[in-house]
Amino acid sequence: MQIVILADATAVAAYGAKLFIRQLQQKADSVLGLATGSTPVALYQQLILAYQQAQVSFARAKSFNLDEYLGLAGSHVQSYRYFMQQQLFQHIDMLPEHTFVPDGSAADPFAACQQYEQQIAAAGGIDLQLLGLGRNGHIGFNEPSSGLRSRTRIKTLTAATINDNARFFAADEYQPHLAITMGIGTILDARSLLLLATGAAKADAVKAMIEGPLCSACPASAIQLHQQAVVVLDEAAASKLADIEFYRHIERENLALLQRLASK
Ligand code: F6R
Repeated sequence: MQIVILADATAVAAYGAKLFIRQLQQKADSVLGLATGSTPVALYQQLILAYQQAQVSFARAKSFNLDEYLGLAGSHVQSYRYFMQQQLFQHIDMLPEHTFVPDGSAADPFAACQQYEQQIAAAGGIDLQLLGLGRNGHIGFNEPSSGLRSRTRIKTLTAATINDNARFFAADEYQPHLAITMGIGTILDARSLLLLATGAAKADAVKAMIEGPLCSACPASAIQLHQQAVVVLDEAAASKLADIEFYRHIERENLALLQRLASK
């Protein structure tokens, strides 16, 4: 796992956006894994800017989102499909039929989960998967106790997650308690992972993910198993890491090595 610690959330978004831009520049028909929530919004803004400045095109890319509320159609303002339209899709040149989000209004949601797995496989698998981190250590909507090899399925949200996401819903609005989410096994199948976490509220989950044992109590700890995972943190999110100086040292050594190799 590569751990990058940056000054603030703006720097985290810029770093993450660069990795997406590089991915698309190297492989125009990349399959991108996307996330919702507050954390990726600034990264999406950077991608939109890069597209407007003709640094990048999404015309040949495909995307698969991590999750969707069960019971909400894509036209619902609280759905993750709607969120993605607003925050990214309507501003870039990705073909609408190439943007995949689990179908929260499917007549048979169990079949929809299986179909999502088939669609990811048919697209050739995910090249770069973006992840946020729940305060309880969830990735996607894989809540604590999620199977570490789980596939796309219906999950019951914890009270903590419902509470954390209540800020997006009006007081009298229906807030779903179930979601369709890629499984942890699905996420680990992506060829590379990019997890962003910012703010002091994430510091405990970050510590458990990086320094805790591999266990379903912290689903994000599963990324310890991945061969190509980059975790980008701001100072506040990194503040509880016991070995923070070592992680900074590794980054400096990595950068120095790359510079030495580049100058040869
Ligand atoms: C969203 C998702 C969630 C969020 C996590 C963090 O698609 O999969 O795991 O990434 O809840 O949310 P924010 O970024 O709002 O703190």
